[in-house]
Amino acid sequence: MNQIPKTTGKNHPDTATLLDWDRMHQIHPWAAMDNWRGYETMLVDSAAGIYIWDAAGKRYLDGPGGMWCTQIGYGRQEMADAISAQVMKIPYSSPFSSATQPSVLLCKKLAELAPGDLNNVLLTTGGSTAVDTALRTMQYLNNRRGLPNKKLIIAREKGYHGSTYLAHSVTGKERDKSHFDFETRLVHLLPDVNPYGRPDGMSVDEWCDEKVTDLARTIAKLGAENIGAFIAEPVLASGGVIVPAPGYHKRTFDLCRENDILYISDEVVTGFGRLGHWFASSDVFGIEPDMITCAKGLTSGYLPLGACIISDRVMEQMSNLGSPSSYANGYTYSGHPVSCAAALKNIEIIENEGLLQHVRKITPHFQDRLRALKKFPLVGDARGMGLLGCIECRAENLEAERSLGERIDVACEEMGLLVRPLINMAVFSPPLIITHAQIDEMFDILEKALEIVTADLAREAA
Ligand SMILES: Cc1ncc(COP(=O)(O)O)c(C=O)c1O
Repeated sequence: MNQIPKTTGKNHPDTATLLDWDRMHQIHPWAAMDNWRGYETMLVDSAAGIYIWDAAGKRYLDGPGGMWCTQIGYGRQEMADAISAQVMKIPYSSPFSSATQPSVLLCKKLAELAPGDLNNVLLTTGGSTAVDTALRTMQYLNNRRGLPNKKLIIAREKGYHGSTYLAHSVTGKERDKSHFDFETRLVHLLPDVNPYGRPDGMSVDEWCDEKVTDLARTIAKLGAENIGAFIAEPVLASGGVIVPAPGYHKRTFDLCRENDILYISDEVVTGFGRLGHWFASSDVFGIEPDMITCAKGLTSGYLPLGACIISDRVMEQMSNLGSPSSYANGYTYSGHPVSCAAALKNIEIIENEGLLQHVRKITPHFQDRLRALKKFPLVGDARGMGLLGCIECRAENLEAERSLGERIDVACEEMGLLVRPLINMAVFSPPLIITHAQIDEMFDILEKALEIVTADLAREAA
């Protein structure tokens, strides 16, 4: 898998031209508007295994796994075959009036893999639409129950749930909300749960108590009769791979149950093997949510697809209310047969290659190498879980600190490693097929990058 794959097609415009056209015509997510058309990006050409190649033929280890999603790695012939076969069999059929073999098989499979009585699946186009579906389902349910006031949503600072209006509204990343409107009446954000942020002298257990109390207090303040759902990522990924304190998930889940508040577990990142299990909610954190949202690793990024998995309990509540009503939610591409065929093949590969077991086996090495980065004074915290990792850096002044993610990214890229910079942090979630030796390759480069950035900062300060 270390050979550069052959580029197909002839007479491509050259790289500089393509990048020019990119700047002229393509709006990238989170593009910097103050630098419109000055935007620099990489023209990615091809990929195999855990590596990608840019248009100049330079190879990079894919540290972020695309965007937390390339579980089985790139260049899988079986995926190409499954996708192409489905395209030729039937590429599209309206989900409003029909089912296809792949959509039925996938929903049945997801019901088997999901915990407890989560047996009902609405297929969506990605993570944001899965989150939207979960939240709208809560609204629909409580309207039908005759509880029109019970629709407030509790979410958390630093949580990320997507880019549709409602998913954006429950997102707790302050910077992402600048200049966009979002729903304020419906959403209440709880303070940051990151144990790294706890005051000096406070134990992790005390921090956990405080975070659970934040939820209890909010329920008391808003009134349980007004709250429809609590939405939470098991590990807050884009917020900087924040792993809440042990016991937090179970205690917050219990509070929701006691107060008739639906618990929505957003497993868009943590699902499909990232923590060594199909879903983390039950297997890692011991809770059986009312709804699970997933996407990304569901197809390993080969095609867009998401899912909102809903419990029998919720479905029965919604359907046993007598009055006729249609559940007017869904998409032209719900249950897209080609995406579903890709998801089924992806799940088959994860099963056949024992990738969940593989992740559980290599996680200790990944986490050891990650935590060893704390030896650099620049690194304030090195944290993670499964094949998720983050280093949070610190510097003398805020301006320097805010540039650290970017600096580490540049140094890593130079040496053939991609990471994802987030202000003063760098995060990684490599493909699940990564080997022990490739984990070493990744962290060896990171260590060198940290040495370079440390030396640069010292030089600048002198
Ligand atoms: C936890 C979580 N939820 C939802 C989303 C939104 O998914 P999408 O970008 O597929 O709409 C993301 C995307 O990063 C995510 O990390």
